[in-house]
Amino acid sequence: MKHLIEPTDLTVAETDSIIALAEDIIADRAKYSDVCRGKKLATLFYEPSTRTRLSFTSAMMELGGSVIGFSDAASSSVSKGETVADTVRVIASFADIIAMRHFKEGAPLVASQYAGIPVINAGDGSHAHPTQTLTDLLTIKREKGRLDHFTIGFCGDLKFGRTVHSLIKALSRYEGVRVILIAPDELRLPEYMRREVCDKCGIDYREVSTMEEVMPELDVLYMTRVQKERFLDEEEFNRVKDSFVLDPQKLAAAKSDMIVLHPLPRVNEITRAVDADPRAAYFRQVENGKFVRMALIYSLLRWAEGESRSTAPQIDPALVRPELACSNARCISTTEDVDPLFHVADDGTCRCAYCESRPR
Ligand code: NCD
Repeated sequence: MKHLIEPTDLTVAETDSIIALAEDIIADRAKYSDVCRGKKLATLFYEPSTRTRLSFTSAMMELGGSVIGFSDAASSSVSKGETVADTVRVIASFADIIAMRHFKEGAPLVASQYAGIPVINAGDGSHAHPTQTLTDLLTIKREKGRLDHFTIGFCGDLKFGRTVHSLIKALSRYEGVRVILIAPDELRLPEYMRREVCDKCGIDYREVSTMEEVMPELDVLYMTRVQKERFLDEEEFNRVKDSFVLDPQKLAAAKSDMIVLHPLPRVNEITRAVDADPRAAYFRQVENGKFVRMALIYSLLRWAEGESRSTAPQIDPALVRPELACSNARCISTTEDVDPLFHVADDGTCRCAYCESRPR
């Protein structure tokens, strides 16, 4: 059964087919208004979200399907101590597809092992956010006409920003994409991303400390919010919170056809005066998110047709390492009774399959 937990769970051909389908939906919405009639999407949101949850909801409604779920774990039986595995086994008897957001990294992977229906990761901790990535890819495709041979600058919180991690992973599979990482030392891209993704895929990337020095070379500028809720130390957050702010003066040095993306919500990292610039594409990006989620839901449901809906655990025995434990306090494996799963990365290090961290 096909799930979307990491952006690379879809092959490049599958990713491109979803983007093409989203473009077709945009061109002829009426054609798709009934294709999910009788199907139910369950949105299981354990962490605050407005746009992602409503984007999934409106996507399913526009396909003619319906939506159940919760947006506040405190009001579900999770507050009674139910595990993710049990919750999804129950929900799977009511719904046909699940979209899950969770503050614990790896929770959607656990869900996919037990659900027996397709599971979409709608954001897990600082780890991944593959549907934002599909949104970003569709936006780049529509705005620039291609997904290869361009230079993209990622600016802000590259340490905790799950949208950044997922988009870099996805872009590593397209030709000629140059990546420039713009962040203070405290918010650098995690080491596993630099080694495992950038070095391994041979991405042309460099790290700089101001946006001014690279602005003229960028085709895409991907701005991000400093992720306050992921800092364990408030003082460190206060030190870096105003690190990078895009304003019209800085934008003046950019190419006339550069685009500015942001997954939103924005705090203060893009001044309001930038909104009127035609290069500000972040509100167009939000709308693309709904179309690409329509394409994803429809595709996953079609691919799952005829597959068994058994909720017997689907776990690769080769990854089970009972003698190891993950070192990441935000990993689902440190709080729930799940099989410890590890794989050996190309650099020879052992990595947790839920969150990519090293064992303790
Ligand atoms: C992002 C997220 O949740 O990771 N937002 C989103 O999905 N629209 C970015 C963020 O919260 O800063």
